[in-house]
Amino acid sequence: MVVSLTYRDRTEDVRGGRGEAEKMPAIVVIGAQWGDEGKGKVTDLLGGRVDYVVRYSGGNNAGHTVITPDGQKYALHLLPSGALSPTATIVIGNGVVIDPKVITEEITELGRRGIDVSSLRISANAHLIMPYHGALDKVTERYLGSSRIGTTGRGIGPAYEDKVARRAIRLQDLFHRERFAAKLGEVLDYHNFVLKQYFNARPVDFQKTLDQTLALAERFRPMVGDVPRLLFEAGERGENLLFEGAQGTLLDVDHGTYPYVTSSNCVAGAAAAGSGVGPQALHYVLGITKAYTTRVGEGPFPTEQDNPVGRRLGERGREFGTVTGRPRRCGWFDAVLVRQTVRTSGINGLALTKLDILDGFDELKVCVGYRLDGGEIDYLPAGEGAQGRVAPIYETIEGWHDSTAGARSWAELPAQAVKYVRRIEELVGCPVALLSTSPEREDTILVQNPFEA
Ligand code: GDP
Ligand code: IMO
Ligand code: MG
Repeated sequence: MVVSLTYRDRTEDVRGGRGEAEKMPAIVVIGAQWGDEGKGKVTDLLGGRVDYVVRYSGGNNAGHTVITPDGQKYALHLLPSGALSPTATIVIGNGVVIDPKVITEEITELGRRGIDVSSLRISANAHLIMPYHGALDKVTERYLGSSRIGTTGRGIGPAYEDKVARRAIRLQDLFHRERFAAKLGEVLDYHNFVLKQYFNARPVDFQKTLDQTLALAERFRPMVGDVPRLLFEAGERGENLLFEGAQGTLLDVDHGTYPYVTSSNCVAGAAAAGSGVGPQALHYVLGITKAYTTRVGEGPFPTEQDNPVGRRLGERGREFGTVTGRPRRCGWFDAVLVRQTVRTSGINGLALTKLDILDGFDELKVCVGYRLDGGEIDYLPAGEGAQGRVAPIYETIEGWHDSTAGARSWAELPAQAVKYVRRIEELVGCPVALLSTSPEREDTILVQNPFEA
């Protein structure tokens, strides 16, 4: 097997000689583009080598695909992809917004498929996605019409709005019936007014919401606890953590292509705030990036190919949203964007995925800069209008006709494919630590083990 540097083996070796003061090694897996880069596959790949896999942001707008060696396919929305690694404890941090119905269904479905998720621990401080959030998300998008964001419609934005407005319901509230009922009453008064008076939409029923949510809460009650303390104690024991990001850096509410973003921070720094560990705990950031670019929903996409090239990428790459089934917009690799996300997320190494989808192209293009208002720039401008006006400057790279699909070593890659990877490293200014050549766990070339960096 190519991925032979198993961290678990190394920790066991090292543990004997490890001093009290040694820090836990923790890595952050984040999306370096607009999401769907292959975070699920990479988290699962590394998940067998870690003690904890922690989700720290987003909600069930995420869809992380994992294919296990027995050919089983899983699409995880709220549970960390470490669920498929029997030795990892899975954790959901305070930064995640949780839909009680979705998490219950996910736990049940995995259980039905023989996956034991009894290790799951969920932060009592995580905020809830309630039925009125989904309703608000959908009516807002309808109301926006052609200016819509193209959200997943899962209530993510409205749930984070309530969090920041300090009127949200947190997981811990569900276990105090009176407190929960009082908060729900107040928040529903507010949202039902907006739904009825502003959107002319149907209000959400108080009693039904109360009863249904309380019934669901019993299912995950034993899993709710103090995540910062759990992770601190894991660190004291020298155990290692993997933080599984959701979405991608360009969907970050502060650093992405606002307003066409999600409503949370997706940069690596959010791993600390979204779970309750200090930033010094995060020792390596692995930025997952496709060998080309995709995006679901609206918003600027400088290298988009709304033409036969884009359709070919979409068909070969099976680019349909894991959450909504929408076709993903496809385009060439944009080195300007990924170089920028390497900076905003402090990426130490790239995991380059879906190289196999580029097999068979005579030539490939990579965006190396932009034209903007008569000039040339080598960064994504901050201005909302300017982001929509940039035109890509391409470098053309000769393609390859041999297959890279399933390659597990550099020696199996056509020379041109290696050149393409090397050029991406140069342009982005970051080494490729991992190369993925199929959806399957083992079809991976591990160049640098993040735990040994
Ligand atoms: P995530 O949201 O970042 O976890 O990514 P998704 O699961 O939404 O989308 C990535 C898709 O690409 C999934 O269907 C994966 O199974 C698939 N995938 C991941 N890596 C590779 C690869 O190297 N080659 C191919 N062909 N598919 C891949
Ligand atoms: P993973 O973790 C791709 C996009 C939506 C929309 C915008 C806002 O699987 O990579 P939201 O429902 O969050 O308010 O939608 O963000 N989006 C994603 N795109 N992958 C994701 O997650 C996404 N999560 C949100 O399509 O454009
Ligand atoms: Mg996805």
